[in-house]
Amino acid sequence: MAFDRSIKIAPSILAADFANFGAECAAVEAQGADWVHVDVMDGHFVPNITFGPATCAAIRPHIKGVMDVHLMIAPVDPYIEAFAQSGADVITAHLEAGPHIHRTLQAIRGAGAKAGLALNPGTGLGDMAHLLDMVDLVCVMTVNPGFGGQKFIDLSAKIRDLRAMIGDRPIHIEIDGGVTPITAPLVAEAGADVLVAGSAVFKGGSVCDPAPYGANIAAIRAAAEAAQS
Ligand code: DX5
Ligand code: ZN
Repeated sequence: MAFDRSIKIAPSILAADFANFGAECAAVEAQGADWVHVDVMDGHFVPNITFGPATCAAIRPHIKGVMDVHLMIAPVDPYIEAFAQSGADVITAHLEAGPHIHRTLQAIRGAGAKAGLALNPGTGLGDMAHLLDMVDLVCVMTVNPGFGGQKFIDLSAKIRDLRAMIGDRPIHIEIDGGVTPITAPLVAEAGADVLVAGSAVFKGGSVCDPAPYGANIAAIRAAAEAAQS
């Protein structure tokens, strides 16, 4: 995974056909996705349940590029090794998921994955200064995590401040929640480079008719690239 700040579109398979994850991953990649975003929810940290490391391992052979695993679970630490073993390239944990985020980030890198740190919309950047040298990605949630298809929360000022804090460090800024061709320019202009999109990518298409995925990805990318700072 070479680092660059070009716009990367990461479809969230939370909006895919759950009975067809393998084919859905292959379809979005064939239609231009850069990364595949995999949302793991536990019904405890967030009020929804998806799946665990066995499903990630089953999906992995169907993804040629980056598998970006977003853990919305608490506790996190007991499961890091299993998600790393499942073939995740990036493992993102939430700052709010427990009292020992420093240990969690160490464990993710120790397991051989890139370390991501996610922040809920209500969480400030105050603690970030102590963690920046431990992360490869910061995920700014622009919805409260748990469900796809929610309304985008405009956190442009927070993204801009984070971008300034990061400086020249090779750290991706990922945006997750409510990303569409309308909202993508706001976050790209503020400094984001990885845009997660669930409903806005999968709407109108299917594994039998994947062309809409390509059109949706292209529309988000074009809008973001035109605005990227
Ligand atoms: C929300 C998830 C997101 C979600 C995005 O908890 O982390 O990845 O699937 O879905 P959309 O793009 O529909 O807001
Ligand atoms: Zn996510």
